[in-house]
Amino acid sequence: MTTETGTLFLHPDRNLALELVRATEAAAIRAVPFIGRGDKNGADGAAVDAMRKFLGTVNFDGVVVIGEGEKDEAPMLFNGEHVGNGRGPACDIAVDPIDGTSLTASGRRNAISMIAAADRGAMLDAHTVFYMEKIVTGPEGIGVVDLRQSVAENIQKLAKAKGKPVSEMSIGILDRPRHEGLIEEIRAAGAGTRLLLDGDVAGGIDAASYEGRLDMCIGIGGSPEGVATACAIKALGGLIQTRLAPKTDEEKQKGLDAGLKFDHVYSADELVKGDNTFFVATGVTDGNLVGGVRRKGPIIRTESIVLRARSGTIRRITADHLVEKWLDDNELAGL
Ligand code: FBP
Repeated sequence: MTTETGTLFLHPDRNLALELVRATEAAAIRAVPFIGRGDKNGADGAAVDAMRKFLGTVNFDGVVVIGEGEKDEAPMLFNGEHVGNGRGPACDIAVDPIDGTSLTASGRRNAISMIAAADRGAMLDAHTVFYMEKIVTGPEGIGVVDLRQSVAENIQKLAKAKGKPVSEMSIGILDRPRHEGLIEEIRAAGAGTRLLLDGDVAGGIDAASYEGRLDMCIGIGGSPEGVATACAIKALGGLIQTRLAPKTDEEKQKGLDAGLKFDHVYSADELVKGDNTFFVATGVTDGNLVGGVRRKGPIIRTESIVLRARSGTIRRITADHLVEKWLDDNELAGL
């Protein structure tokens, strides 16, 4: 709205993510006893349990569009599960109680807990196809970068738009055998790779952020993570494009039956409609995006980011939680 003084003024309204952040904080804290203990499922289970309890306190009528899998395999936060107290706005939510379960179990950097939210019906339900190709950049990539172009062309054009030499471009990509060719192409184009052990949500956000270390994040990663990343990219004003990458004909057929499009480049708007999107993440282990859970005497400190597309707001939230309310000394060993 334009006021008499000509300044842009938005009516204050609710930022749902400021409430959802309590759920990612809880999930990150409860995952702490599992950091570096080699137990992926234990870490995930503890985070799921904590996230679900906190989601139950939030005034909204959420449906998990992207969760821990189908009802029979996942006891909680399964696709289709209703979360929240049922009062308030009808929303789709995507949850990943830990993006980086292996990172957590091995005690490596960059594990986060995350939730994305949007209006009911806004998120693409791509759960029938596990992987998608993705490309994510900051705002400079819009109208410049395109998944249909070669990686060399995308790197050159983005470098030009950013006003820097190709040799200074850093490209994030999951360190997987399936990316050997792409990694060679990036290096042959003259750019450098930043190989991610896991966690392409954090990688995508880093690439789209003004202060990020990556210029672009590309490659094949989880479809659920792609839709969640789109919720964050909308708040950052960046570019995200994806293309489904089924591993088998059977998987492709399931996708076709579910109405998904193949050989089609999904835009941010096709991944999540509209601008009423929220994204929240709390660090489990230290990372480029957020710091991990830390103990400071009688308190446990968490670091989170809270993104909201409608207002274009990015908040960084540091919260101190009393140790005695959360974990005992055994559980905190090594923190
Ligand atoms: P989880 O920790 O939730 O399993 O996901 C980690 C992750 O690295 C994602 O960030 C990424 O999208 C996906 O796994 C890639 O899948 P894969 O490890 O099979 O290559």
